[in-house]
Amino acid sequence: MNWVAVVDDEEVNRQIVCRVLKKSDYMVTALESGQELLDFIYVKGNRPDLIILDIIMPQMDGFETIKRLQGGSFSSNRIPVIFLTGETTEEVEKQGLKLGAEDFVRKPIYPDVLLHRVGRIIELDRMHRSMAQEIESKAAECESLSRHVVQTLAEAIDAKDTYTNGHSDRVAVYSREIAKRFGYSEKEQDDIYMMGLLHDVGKIGVPDEIINKPGKLTDEEFEAIKSHPVTGERILKKVKEMPKLSVGARWHHEKYDGTGYPDGLKGEEILEEARIIAVADAYDAMTSNRSYRGLLPQSKVREEIERGKGTQFDPVFADIMIQMIDEDKDYLMHE
Ligand SMILES: [Fe+2]
Repeated sequence: MNWVAVVDDEEVNRQIVCRVLKKSDYMVTALESGQELLDFIYVKGNRPDLIILDIIMPQMDGFETIKRLQGGSFSSNRIPVIFLTGETTEEVEKQGLKLGAEDFVRKPIYPDVLLHRVGRIIELDRMHRSMAQEIESKAAECESLSRHVVQTLAEAIDAKDTYTNGHSDRVAVYSREIAKRFGYSEKEQDDIYMMGLLHDVGKIGVPDEIINKPGKLTDEEFEAIKSHPVTGERILKKVKEMPKLSVGARWHHEKYDGTGYPDGLKGEEILEEARIIAVADAYDAMTSNRSYRGLLPQSKVREEIERGKGTQFDPVFADIMIQMIDEDKDYLMHE
């Protein structure tokens, strides 16, 4: 059953509206003032499907009431309002609509007109609400799908290399943690997580036998490996919805002192996200098993990060990584 709150300081108006609506099976609550309405909603927690609101009332008029109503915490869950008015000037209508009223019903009240307007607004509001819900759930579905695709892609990259099982995922997790400690918002943390997951995506273009070659690489083979940031960027640039996605891929092998690749960028020329991912990437490389060694002792890893401050790494993010190492008393943060 649809529920309507009627707010009018004049009893006769409340009675007319109540009678008309009740006869058509509406549930109706009659209120005498704007303040009563605000209490009814915000203090008592009621949520009628529609509010019929008189404009001219002593103390708080209809305009002031709707302002307070929509400035409140219910604003995302707005209740539609129809103004009840004796005045029909253009100015009054304009102001009412500007304040967010859906429609007007003029006094004297004609029952059919009232019923028609109330029915139509409730129906529209319901449709609007269900569409909004639908959009929200589709957006969530879409996001979860893209997360899964990215995760799968990251696993595929790691699978190329016998010794980088779960590397992309760990780099993403460490990057997110550094970013979080540095004060990134939730959204920015999600973004850097994605960048971390895909930082090595360009390895798809490097032949497996080079990636997994046990001995020393020839110059040519090393050049092939070094091409992965540029390939990665080229792949990720196509994701127009997330223009920064390629940042980690392109610049995670840059070094703070300018001796990295592919562009030899220096200091803050390297985008911040890439400077974070570079620290996370190096940390994971040292704390993962390799064909020629197991994971390094934690003290050695700490020393290496410390030593790379200002040369290989941005000192700020290196310090955050060191803080994370120091908190990791049992050395759980490794492959
Ligand atoms: Fe890489």
